[in-house]
Parts: sequence; structure tokens; C-alpha cells
Amino acid sequence: MMPTGTLYGIGLGPGDPELITLKALRLLQASPVVAAFSKAGRTGNAWTIAAPHLREDQTRLRLEYPFTLEVSVTDPRYHREMGVFYEACAARLAEHLEAGRDVAVICEGDPFFYGSYMYLHDRLVERFPVQVVPGITGMSACWTQANTPITHGDDVLTVLPGTLPEDTLVERLAHTDAAVFMKVGRNLPRVRSALARAGMLERALLVERGSMEGERVQRLAERAEDEPAPYFTIVLVPGRQGVR
Ligand SMILES: C[S@@+](CC[C@H](N)C(=O)[O-])C[C@H]1O[C@@H](n2cnc3c(N)ncnc32)[C@H](O)[C@@H]1O
Repeated sequence: MMPTGTLYGIGLGPGDPELITLKALRLLQASPVVAAFSKAGRTGNAWTIAAPHLREDQTRLRLEYPFTLEVSVTDPRYHREMGVFYEACAARLAEHLEAGRDVAVICEGDPFFYGSYMYLHDRLVERFPVQVVPGITGMSACWTQANTPITHGDDVLTVLPGTLPEDTLVERLAHTDAAVFMKVGRNLPRVRSALARAGMLERALLVERGSMEGERVQRLAERAEDEPAPYFTIVLVPGRQGVR
């Protein structure tokens, strides 16, 4: 029997083209098939990071979400239709893997950190050999670009999706020294309000497109309240400062 291909989940880092690991680059270039999720009609950040390293003879699978922000995650349709979409994506990958071709799924940041790659991984890990290559996360790039140490000594860091209800955010903030808000985008007003209620607004920094083109770093308190935030936005609350 012909051996199957290997599924690679490849973290490409936060955007800076120099923050790709040697391993990610080697496996990306060796894979006959490269796949990535993206919003319909958009290039997609993983494709942008990988572009200089791809060859014409590599098959490219564009996995375009049926919707992104148009349907709320609380709508039962969201999970039903996304489930169908991920099944179809896994089937497209399985066809290549069964034919003995390796498939590299390229991901922004780290594949196992809030990445859609995980929905393919879960569906394919028991059928095919799988290898995941970690990537530098977006949050790591953001605190680096903000020139801000995030945790000292025994500081506790809490990572919070900005999609959580405001009361939950406030409650979580009460039990942490440092925080990172992911998925800020259209949730910025709720994140700001939760930080104000927790008495942390003055310490908070906002980073748009950390380490990518168009990067911006500012104190959240100085940002106009009505200014929208792009999809690639992280809010940081550094832990204790000047400990020693
Ligand atoms: C679906 S998660 C993917 C996280 C990614 N796998 C990682 O390791 O960072 C997308 C969210 O990550 C955050 N993000 C990722 N990279 C970023 C960057 N370079 N700058 C700002 N925000 C980023 C944003 O909050 C965005 O809404």
C-alpha cells in the first residue's frame, strides 16, 4: 500500500517576514500542497507571509470561510454551517493525503493558539501522520513591538478573548496581574469598558497589526472612543512594572 502524506500545521509567526522559523520554511517549501484559511475575496494573512517562499508548482488550496463576522457565534447557524465547512475542508486535504502528498496548512502566529487549523487537526489526526510547527504568536510580537515587558516574577497572565461578555471580562481581570485581549476588533468598546471598570484602563496598550505593515502602538486611554479597531488588534495590560 502506498504511504499516505503527512499533514503539517505550520505556524508562520505574527507577520514580520523575518519571524518565520527555519523549520516552518523548510517544511513549507518541501510540501507539494499548501493550504490556508482566509476570508472570501481576501488574500489572507498567512498567504501574504508565505508568498515570497511559494513556488508555481505547489498546489494551493484556498479554504474560504462561508462567513466571518456576518453571523454571530451565538447563532446556532454559526456552529452548524462552520462544522459543514470544516468537514468539507478536511475532505479536500484528505484526498491529497490519501494520494501520498504532504499538505502544509499555513497559519498566522501559532497553529494551536486560537487558530482554525485546529478544526482540521481534530478531524485528521487519527487518520494521517501529523506534525505541528509552533510559531511566534501575535501577542508576543505585540508586547515586543510595544517595548513592554508583560510578566515579571510570579505575575499571573490571563489571555482573554474580547468576545466574552463584559461582566466576565471584569471578573477575570480582578484575578490577574497582566492580561492580553485577543479578538479585539469590533469588541474594542466592551474591552475598554471592562478595563475601566477593573481600574486598568490607564495601564492598557493597544497594538494594531503588530510586526506587520501598518503597525500602530498607542495607549488605549489616548485612543478616540469612536475609532474602530482592525481585525489584527491586541490590547495588553502589562504586569507589575519596575519590580526590582
Ligand atoms: C484567530 S486569532 C489567531 C491567533 C494566532 N494563531 C496567534 O498565534 O497569534 C486572531 C486574533 O489574534 C490577534 N492577532 C494575531 N496576530 C496579531 C498581530 N500580529 N497583531 C495584532 N493582533 C494579532 C488579533 O486579536 C486577532 O483578532
